[in-house]
Amino acid sequence: MSRIFNFSAGPSMLPLEVLEQAREELLDWHDSGMSVMEMSHRGKQFSAIAEQLEADFRKLLAVPDNYRILFLQGGATAQFAMIPLNLLAGKDRACYVSTGAWSEKAIKEAKKYCQVNVAASSAEDNFTSIPERGEWRVDADAAYLHYTPNETIHGVEFQEIPDAEGLPLVADMSSNILSREVDVSRYALIYAGTQKNMGPAGVTVVVVREDFLDIADPKVPSVFNYAQQAKNGSMLNTPPTYNWYLVGLVLQWLDSLGGIAAIEQRNIIKADRLYQAIDASALYHNPVQRHCRSRMNVPFILADASLDSEFLSQASANALHALKGHRSVGGMRASIYNAMPEEGVDALIQFMAEFERTH
Ligand SMILES: Cc1ncc(COP(=O)(O)O)c(C=O)c1O
Repeated sequence: MSRIFNFSAGPSMLPLEVLEQAREELLDWHDSGMSVMEMSHRGKQFSAIAEQLEADFRKLLAVPDNYRILFLQGGATAQFAMIPLNLLAGKDRACYVSTGAWSEKAIKEAKKYCQVNVAASSAEDNFTSIPERGEWRVDADAAYLHYTPNETIHGVEFQEIPDAEGLPLVADMSSNILSREVDVSRYALIYAGTQKNMGPAGVTVVVVREDFLDIADPKVPSVFNYAQQAKNGSMLNTPPTYNWYLVGLVLQWLDSLGGIAAIEQRNIIKADRLYQAIDASALYHNPVQRHCRSRMNVPFILADASLDSEFLSQASANALHALKGHRSVGGMRASIYNAMPEEGVDALIQFMAEFERTH
């Protein structure tokens, strides 16, 4: 067996230990005589898996008791609609901060349901920065303030939680959840798809403060209603049981590494090494302002774009995969989520240096 280093933005690399454990338990989970895939979601065995999943997530992210944790479907994309549907509570507007492509998608969807006031945007500098907090114009009458702590495509990450001026703060943490410590109590709601930092695709985690649960428009479909999902343990319909199990294994793996504080240190080391290599080179360039560079998604542009395809094919030949940047940014992008080992980043740096030397 030979495994590659997969720098995909998501679905992305999973820890080898987790895949091995899943393989081990595939046909017969804990002497149950069946696979987790075959279990009833209402049965004793799966209930134990589901309870453990929630408890492990709560522990890892230090989620306070007055928050509910939901495991939903539809990805972060469904949340772009569910958030206004559930949180507007009779108000006609919401406030959004735009720092990249994913903020823009969230804004576009929210506009179907309410007036969107953009408090700040870095569109003018091609989303390579975060607007100074002092320059934001937060609408005090908005139902909530939404932002994207890590922009997966543009490689821009907030290093601090912004002051929401008393508005309920909502965050799309799809690409940096569980990669760093977070004070959950600063938020009304946090959401994230699992396919980058915590498992395969197919599950969306929503962490919502209890007092924001039951304020949805009554016409909101039941499966999209936070309160109803919370009342039903996220099992209003049959959940993707095997994916819940796999996310649970990833959470246990994160815990075994020392929890989020330890993971964050590892992520800082990996990102620092890669940015240092890029900054020291004459061939590679990262367009993002230093204070808001992402630890998770590292875009880099080659000084000579005609070398892009050769870079990619040689990288692939060296077991370094999925480095092509998003078409809106160009160049390359290395996504280095929790499951990317330090050796993967070191192998990339070594390859980049060798490619620069020979070109
Ligand atoms: C920050 C961010 N938000 C939302 C999404 C969309 O997620 P999904 O495809 O799970 O709906 C992504 C996917 O890459 C993302 O990176």
